[in-house]
Amino acid sequence: MDRLPGFRDFYPEPLPHPDVWSADARQYIFDKWRTMARRYGFREYDGPPLEPLELYTLKSGEEIVAQLYNFTDKGQREIALRPEMTPTLARMVAAHERNYKKPIKWFAIPQLFRYERHQKGRLREHFQFNADIFGEADVAADAELIALLIDTLRSFGLTAKDFVIRLSSRNAWQEFFTQRCPDPGKANEFYQIIDKLEREDPAQSREKLARLGFSLDEISAFIKTGQPTTELEAVLKNLSARGLSEFVRVDYQVIRGLAYYTGVVFEAFDQQGEFRAIAGGGRYDNLVKLISGGKVNLPALGFGFGDVVLLELLKARGLLPKFDGALDAFCLIEDESLRPESLKLITDLRASGLAIDYALTPAKPDKQFKRAQEMKAARTIKLERTPAGELSARIKDLRTREEKACAPAEAAQVLGK
Ligand code: HAM
Repeated sequence: MDRLPGFRDFYPEPLPHPDVWSADARQYIFDKWRTMARRYGFREYDGPPLEPLELYTLKSGEEIVAQLYNFTDKGQREIALRPEMTPTLARMVAAHERNYKKPIKWFAIPQLFRYERHQKGRLREHFQFNADIFGEADVAADAELIALLIDTLRSFGLTAKDFVIRLSSRNAWQEFFTQRCPDPGKANEFYQIIDKLEREDPAQSREKLARLGFSLDEISAFIKTGQPTTELEAVLKNLSARGLSEFVRVDYQVIRGLAYYTGVVFEAFDQQGEFRAIAGGGRYDNLVKLISGGKVNLPALGFGFGDVVLLELLKARGLLPKFDGALDAFCLIEDESLRPESLKLITDLRASGLAIDYALTPAKPDKQFKRAQEMKAARTIKLERTPAGELSARIKDLRTREEKACAPAEAAQVLGK
C-alpha cells in the first residue's frame, strides 16, 4: 500500500531510496530551530492538530480555506486538520494571556496539513517553525523577530549570498488600495492577486486586477518606486545596529497571502530565485481580538518557517552534515558466560548518558565487530575475566585502533572522554 500523495516517510540514514526523506536531517533542523528560539528567549508551546473548522474560516483567507483537510466527526462537529499554527496560538494566548508577562515570546514546531497541488517545495504536510510575539506594538518587536529569522538561517551555514529577507508593509498596500478603491470588502481579493504576481501568468493577473479597477502598470510602478514607510525605516535601522543590513531589503512585491496581516510583513527567499518562499510572517494586530470575540486585544506578530524548502536549499548548497548513528560504543559479548555482567555494564553505561548497543542474541565475534562498524560506533567495549578472576573492560577506539583496559566501574568515565 502506498502513502498518500504529498505526504512523506522519514527514514534513518543512510537513505534506502531517493524517494524518502531523512529522519536525521529533520531532527537536525528541529534542533537548530529550538536552539535559536531559546537563545532569543522564546518559550515552547503546542496545540491540537485538529481544530474547529470555524477557527480558519474566520480570518485565515480564502486560499488556505480552499486547501483545508476538513470533515465532520462522529459527534457531527465540523473540524479541520491545522493548515497553520497562528489561529490556534491566537486562541491559546487569548484564553490565558493574563497569566503571562508581556511581551509573550513563544515558539512551536507543528506539523501542518494543506491540500495543495503537489509541486516543488510544496507538499500536503510540512513542519513549520513558528515564532510569535504578543503584547508589543513597537517595531522593535518586528526587528527582533526578523533578526531571529536571519540568525536561524545563518545557523545552518547560509549566508547573505544564499538568502534575503524581503520586507514590505500591509499599511503601505492598504493605503494604496483605499486611495483607489472605495470598497474595503475587496481588499483581501486584491492582496491575493498581488501575492501571486510573481507566480502567475501576467495576462491573468492583469485581467483579475482590471476587474477590481486596477492596472498592472500602476501596480508595477508602485512596487518599483514605493518608498519605505516610517515603520520599515525603523526596522531597517534596528537591524543595521545589529550588523544585519545585508540580509534585508524593502520589496513591495511581498504582501503575504493570509488575510490577517496588518503592518510590517516579510518573506525569506533564496538569492537565486530557484525555490519557493523559505519563510514568511508579519504583524497581525487584530487577530486575537477577532478570535476572542472582542474579549482580548493584543498586538501580535510572528513568522512561519517550513522544513521543505529549507532542506532543498541546504542540499543544493551542500550544507547538510553527514549523519551517522553516533553510537558511543558497541559492547561485544564474545564469552556468553559474561552476558549477565555485560547487560549490567550496558545498563550502567546507558544510565550515564552514553549511547550503547550490542548483539541481542549470541553471535560470532567477527559478526559482532562488523555490526559495530556498520553502526558507526566510536568504540567497542568488551568484558573479560583476568587470570585472578576479576572483571576487566577492554575498550578499543575504532578510529585510532588504540586499546585500553579498565575496571568496569570506570568504563563510563573512559568512554565519556
Ligand atoms: P505561510 O506563508 O502560509 O505562513 O507559511 C510559512 C512557510 O511555511 C512558507 O514560507 C513555507 O516555508 C512553509 N510552507 C507553507 N505551506 C507549505 C507547503 N504546502 N509545503 C511545504 N512548506 C510549506 C503561515 O503559515 C503563517 N501562519 C506564518 C505566521 C506565523 N505568521 C505569523 N505567525
